[in-house]
Amino acid sequence: MDVSAAASVPKSEIYLADYRPPAFAIDHVQLTFRLFDDFAEVEAVSDVRRQEKGTAPLMLDGGPYMDLVSVAVDGEALTGNAYTLGSDSLTLHDVPDQFSLRIVTRLKPQENTRLEGLYHSGGNFCTQCEAEGFRHITYFVDRPDNLARYSVRIEANKARCPVLLSNGNPGDAGDLNERRHFAEWHDPFPKPSYLFALVAGKLGVLSDSFTTESGRDVALNIYAAPADLDKCGYAMQSLKRSMKWDEEAFGREYDLDVYNIVAVGDFNMGAMENKGLNIFNSKYVLASPDTATDTDFDRIEGIIGHEYFHNWSGNRVTCRDWFQLSLKEGLTVFRDQQFSSDMTSRAVKRLDDVRLLRMLQFPEDAGPLAHPVRPEKYIEINNFYTVTVYNKGAEVIRMMHRLLGADGFRAGTDLYFDRHDGQAVTCEDFVKAMEDANGADLGQFRLWYSQAGTPKLTVERMRDGNQVTLTITQSCPPTPGQAEKLPFHMPFMVGWVGADGAEIRPTIAADGTWHEDGCLLDLRQERQQFVFEGVPEGAVPSLLRDFSCPVLMTSDLTEAEFAFLSGADTDAFARWEATQTLVSNLLVRVVEGDEPLTSLPSHLTDAYGAVLTDENTDPALIAELLMLPSEIDVGQKLKVLEAEKLHKARETVLHLLVKAHGGVMRSRYEALASDGFFQDQDAKAARKLRNVLLGYLALGEDGEALVKTHYDGADNMTDQMAALSLVTDSDFACRKVVLDDFYAQWKDNTLVIDKWFAVQANSKREDTVEVVRALTNHEAFTIKNPNRLRSLVSSFSMLNQVRFHSEDGAGYRFLADMIEAVDAINPQMAAKLVAPLGRWRRLEGRARDMMQESLRKIAGNAATSDDVRELVEKSLT
Ligand code: TRP
Ligand code: ZN
Repeated sequence: MDVSAAASVPKSEIYLADYRPPAFAIDHVQLTFRLFDDFAEVEAVSDVRRQEKGTAPLMLDGGPYMDLVSVAVDGEALTGNAYTLGSDSLTLHDVPDQFSLRIVTRLKPQENTRLEGLYHSGGNFCTQCEAEGFRHITYFVDRPDNLARYSVRIEANKARCPVLLSNGNPGDAGDLNERRHFAEWHDPFPKPSYLFALVAGKLGVLSDSFTTESGRDVALNIYAAPADLDKCGYAMQSLKRSMKWDEEAFGREYDLDVYNIVAVGDFNMGAMENKGLNIFNSKYVLASPDTATDTDFDRIEGIIGHEYFHNWSGNRVTCRDWFQLSLKEGLTVFRDQQFSSDMTSRAVKRLDDVRLLRMLQFPEDAGPLAHPVRPEKYIEINNFYTVTVYNKGAEVIRMMHRLLGADGFRAGTDLYFDRHDGQAVTCEDFVKAMEDANGADLGQFRLWYSQAGTPKLTVERMRDGNQVTLTITQSCPPTPGQAEKLPFHMPFMVGWVGADGAEIRPTIAADGTWHEDGCLLDLRQERQQFVFEGVPEGAVPSLLRDFSCPVLMTSDLTEAEFAFLSGADTDAFARWEATQTLVSNLLVRVVEGDEPLTSLPSHLTDAYGAVLTDENTDPALIAELLMLPSEIDVGQKLKVLEAEKLHKARETVLHLLVKAHGGVMRSRYEALASDGFFQDQDAKAARKLRNVLLGYLALGEDGEALVKTHYDGADNMTDQMAALSLVTDSDFACRKVVLDDFYAQWKDNTLVIDKWFAVQANSKREDTVEVVRALTNHEAFTIKNPNRLRSLVSSFSMLNQVRFHSEDGAGYRFLADMIEAVDAINPQMAAKLVAPLGRWRRLEGRARDMMQESLRKIAGNAATSDDVRELVEKSLT
């Protein structure tokens, strides 16, 4: 196995415009896996068929980490001159138009630290083939537009691997001899190679069943390490809720006899939708109230749903090529968001999604790694599993849902699934189905797929008697490779709140229609005017309701009007946004104006007072309203990111709010205490609000006593973590004791210890960089496990803005060192750490130089992988 040969051939750019269907198709493949302790042998027998006229050779994708044992065409073994073996391909020169191809390869799963292809996790065999992992198992047409039927046979040691799983429905199984056994699996649905999966090992199983709408009985199994089986119940309930929901909301039924989920501890991403055999990061399966927070439970439900929904949006209808990734991911994220909204609170879920989009996707869209939802070129496809493709992609789907209405959208997805079942298609095909089902024209709307960057909107009012004209202008900043942008088509939702706080509905002339939750304006031009008639004096517009399009908006609303909306708006997003704006405007003034902050404007203090005493609103939403905008959010509004100044100013606002409202906060905190632990929505909302209040009260006089009591009295992980993070952030005398206590209590639970690392990486204390660096030497730290790595390194570099940007540049140097160390074992993971180093344009002076210095160091390292190099080089330009 010559690995060095591969490293010496840098990958080149692949363009969407160059797309051509594969010259050869593989329609069926019979795979036999012979698994042993220190290697695996894979025999692949494929039915190959020439699709493109001519005599072109057969080029198969492969990788440098496997050995080719033999190749045979129609039973005839090939000798060396009949084929060319490259580091990432196998070319067969003279092949017939149709033949049977037999290839035997040998792999070393136990040495695979890249966690791609066939690897070991927790002593078990598992696979990860998206996007291009299958080529590390055998030589193949490893691209999503090759749909094949798979028959799989697995042979392994009985004691070592009692459980043998693959895609589809189970077939024959039995003993080979005293030590070894086999199992066969058949997947009747043609699928691309990225959906192939295999699991073999010692696993426990939680079983249940589901009967589909049309009466099909489906066996449901969740496999996990035997000791973790008691933590699989919530995932199972979530799976059943997902199956039911997809039938009701999208008319989609499950199609196999079994649905298997396997939880593994080492996984590069969240989970994988392999047909009939999902493989999950154990973080998104395992939960019990004492080890998982309410947020963890919600995330598990969302991801179980996400992977399940892929069975239609991704598997039955798949992607033609990887430029179309958002076809499945944007749509499936939208579907999982709708599901979670129906299971929890629609308003709060929307705020969570908007917050994530702004914290992660807006900076991506504003930086050197900006790319359209449907990218035009890439070097390493793994680098395009981005928040833009996933979350902005979901916003694009959501806008179509808004423009066409719920029924029109459903008609569109019905047509899409019906028309393209069993095909590998494009984003264009999805939009076309939406148009055809609705007789709509989404011509201009398509720009959302091709133009990168976050559009900017400005809204201005002009009053003439009772007539108010809204002038809305849009623009979009340049992004790499796209200097000029055309105007987008976007749905802009607006409402009106009368001076008495009641919702009013003035008449709109054209280009607008009233819906239940507001008036929908159709934005299409650079500058557009909308005339509302009958707007009483004192009425305030509630803009961008429900965050109806993913934009950065400024308006001529006054501070007093934001304060008013913060109490009166019926739209949860607009109300929240008004409250956030009051604070972020103040923080920007303080940081950029250098004015000392000694007291808060009274409208702000009063607005928070009103929210605190609001007893008519869902406490979960009250909690959201009380959380100040994050430093990352406000940082984006500064001309230059002055992280330290911003942090101090925000701390001051928190202190001043406690000073003003400490008494009310305290009594509401106490009123929310509960006897015993409950997991219904009301109990979760109460816990959330109580923990937000604790965050404020921690800054008050008896803060330490209160937080310590909260920690000691916690009967669930949500409360325990809330207290632990406050303690970790503080100078409390009990700090070390509590951190040690937590570690001692949970040291045998890796998922909980991840939280222990993350909370320290997120600490705003001044010594955090050194603490984080020291933690890389902790007995429980390893860069081989992606969850552990993320919990320490990504938490620090992506979430802890003020400490990552420490003035001596130690944060940047730490991250660069970690990227290089991880790159040597898992390039895909290393690449996911790069983005924060690309933000140097937001800095000035020495900070800017030091960040670029860190990038140059990685770029200058000959061992740097293609994955990391693509992002580092883009980040430098
Ligand atoms: N398709 C998966 C999802 O979103 C994503 C995924 C899982 C993935 N593992 C991966 C993508 C590894 C690239 C590489 O549900
Ligand atoms: Zn997905």
